[in-house]
Amino acid sequence: MIVLVGFMGAGKTTLGAALAQRLGLPFVDTDDVIAARHGPIADIFASAGEATFRDLEEDAIRETLTGPQAVVSLGGGAVETPAVRDLLAGHEVIWLRISLQDALARLGDDPSRPVLNSANLAARFAARQPLYAQVATKIADAMSADLLDALDVT
Ligand code: S3P
Repeated sequence: MIVLVGFMGAGKTTLGAALAQRLGLPFVDTDDVIAARHGPIADIFASAGEATFRDLEEDAIRETLTGPQAVVSLGGGAVETPAVRDLLAGHEVIWLRISLQDALARLGDDPSRPVLNSANLAARFAARQPLYAQVATKIADAMSADLLDALDVT
């Protein structure tokens, strides 16, 4: 599997779809898998809470990573779950790295992303950086103009 990780707003879905097309592979966004099964992510956070969302996310990622070969995009917080980090071992994992400032500028005020409204967003961003680094086999600059070519993934 080729897996894209990184903070919200890094462009994982856009890059993942382009990469999948280039490689002739299916593209799976695990947020879409969760939403297809359980409804909109913001609703899951509101009604069941983040811990429940993380459980559903772990299930979706486990199934996707044991399914057919694909380019897979994970939600920005997936790496916070230790079991998800374990599941990523042995896969090609691209960290699409972005600064918090650039991510926020791209995202604006997006009600579909509940974690954006966390009181401790900067701390969560900081805490995630070493986790992305831990799982990544490759790092790409999310703001790079020629991202797809720079990736050199075959
Ligand atoms: C989250 C990121 C979202 C989604 C959920 C939680 C996070 O995915 O999984 O809203 O904790 O950063 P994107 O990174 O695709 O926005």
